[in-house]
Amino acid sequence: MGNNKDILVDSLENWKRTHSCGRLRAKDEGLTVILMGWVNSRRDLGNLIFIDLRDREGITQIVFDPQADIISHEKAHVLRNEWVLAVKGKVFSRIDGQKNPKLPTGDIEIRVSELKVLNITETPPFQVDGAVDASEALRLKYRYLELRRPQVFDTLYKRHLIGSCIRDFLDKKGFIDVETPFLTKSTPEGARDYLVPSRVNRGLFYALPQSPQLFKQLLMVAGFDRYYQIVKCFRDEDLRADRQPEFTQVDLEMAFVEENDIMNVFEGMMVELFQEILGHTIPTPIRRLQYQEAMNRFGTDRPDTRFDMEIKDITDIAKKSDFSIFLQAIKNGGVVKAITVKNGAPSFSRKNLDELSESIGEYGARGLAWIKINDDGWQSSLNRFFKEGDKTEINLELDAGPGDLIMIVADSAAISNRALGYLRLEIAKRLGLAAKDGYSFVWITRFPLLEFNEKEGRLEAVHHPFTAPAGEDISLLDDSPEQVKARAYDLVLNGVEIGGGSIRIHDIATQRKMFAILGISDVEAQQKFGFLLEALKYGAPPHGGMALGFDRLVALMTGAESIREVIAFPKTTSATCLMTDAPSHVDRNQLKELGIGLFEQPDTLT
Ligand code: AMO
Repeated sequence: MGNNKDILVDSLENWKRTHSCGRLRAKDEGLTVILMGWVNSRRDLGNLIFIDLRDREGITQIVFDPQADIISHEKAHVLRNEWVLAVKGKVFSRIDGQKNPKLPTGDIEIRVSELKVLNITETPPFQVDGAVDASEALRLKYRYLELRRPQVFDTLYKRHLIGSCIRDFLDKKGFIDVETPFLTKSTPEGARDYLVPSRVNRGLFYALPQSPQLFKQLLMVAGFDRYYQIVKCFRDEDLRADRQPEFTQVDLEMAFVEENDIMNVFEGMMVELFQEILGHTIPTPIRRLQYQEAMNRFGTDRPDTRFDMEIKDITDIAKKSDFSIFLQAIKNGGVVKAITVKNGAPSFSRKNLDELSESIGEYGARGLAWIKINDDGWQSSLNRFFKEGDKTEINLELDAGPGDLIMIVADSAAISNRALGYLRLEIAKRLGLAAKDGYSFVWITRFPLLEFNEKEGRLEAVHHPFTAPAGEDISLLDDSPEQVKARAYDLVLNGVEIGGGSIRIHDIATQRKMFAILGISDVEAQQKFGFLLEALKYGAPPHGGMALGFDRLVALMTGAESIREVIAFPKTTSATCLMTDAPSHVDRNQLKELGIGLFEQPDTLT
């Protein structure tokens, strides 16, 4: 950088910005303005030097012309990308042919009369204004440079707008924002806790909250009535595109309510949000599907309902065939289920179908049978096992005609549903069936309350242990706990679970019973949730709530592929921050002070 330092100025010397770099238009011609920002790109034509100056609002073309000011023109020869400048100059209209229709400021330029170089830079590790992109690792390491990119900034700006809109909505509805502790006790949302050692109480640990679940329930006991918080949650779980170890929830709880009251609040919030931010009208009421129906028709509890291709049961017709694989599956208590890919026959070769057949092995399915419908009938290895009448019946049942492709899986209901649910999504992806800018919401209700964890040989809460059982099922709790439905609901958008919640247990007897069913002893319940059990003794009102995954919602509203794109400083899929190098080694003395010894030497970052 050498002598370049000589042209740096120390202070702004009372220069005040008059406009942002995205603001000026043709009507501003003749104004004398001061702009500040970063050099986005430069063209030095010798006599004239052009700089695109960038700030968060946009880009403005700056011209250094010796006839306007010889000193700044001289200085401008050394300017480089990402240097930080302040320029004073006059707004000129560009002549036709030199206008840039791609920029909102493209009709004007600034002829510089004075230049201040506020900072210079080393050559950045990648070009901010770059067509050629750097690896994700490099971009995360220098995340602040990536955040300079207008499209990345815009996404985070939209996140801010979405958050403001949600706050406004909830404020209007009488919800109050209450902060809850980060240094707390384990909250059971099903993931591992992040633990924080206590120095003052050596050997003891806080857990970072997996959600504010128990605190928001205590706020209801306290009579706060309507609580919300846009809040960080921490979960040590296996990461993927829609999971981060620290993520944000729009968390909410209400007293004296039933399911519909809470669902209506969220429905209203979504309507207002999508209208305000995207100008998109969400049809209401949002469709509701019971869990079992979603599993039967879509093979998942978070169906993408932007397209049909529903799973249908053809067991009764398949029974009449001579196809031993179908007959065997039915004999074993299984089902024969199918999807129809409209006009799909020409799009899938035998090789494609073999690959798809192999891919559903992951879901436990042993194979995929298929039928291409030609003008003259079925093209399928199943052909000779079905009578003509039964073929017609299948075509009718599956709404299949010439050009369509039928895919069939015969297995247990659970496996057939899951395998066809996967195929449904995979085919929609390949054929582009889901509109990229379409939004399809669906509520999933009547989840099972409990599920059996094969590995641990015990019952587990599907949501969390504070979810109330459906009133009419309470008598089943003792003898058939797996049949009990929960007063729980999830909100799904385009196949992504964006939120979930429930009506809670508010009487201590049911809560104790629930712990017992989950194999949590009285001693353990007292140790872990004693404060909640205690609170339930002192007049807990009926209450319930829900939490939205804010990052997932923002990702869907901005078209981001991963929630990493909508978080300013995200972690990698191995839960590291490449910019700060967290997590990192700590000083031995620090550990000693905390009374902690390490069993193993830590690995270096992966
Ligand atoms: P739940 O565990 O379903 O419910 O979480 C609510 C929503 O949070 C989002 N989410 C995540 N987003 C990003 N990264 C993660 N690791 C992650 N984990 C969850 C999902 C999910 O739907 N206390 C209850 C809510 C309640 O009952 O009121 C809870 O936390 O979009």
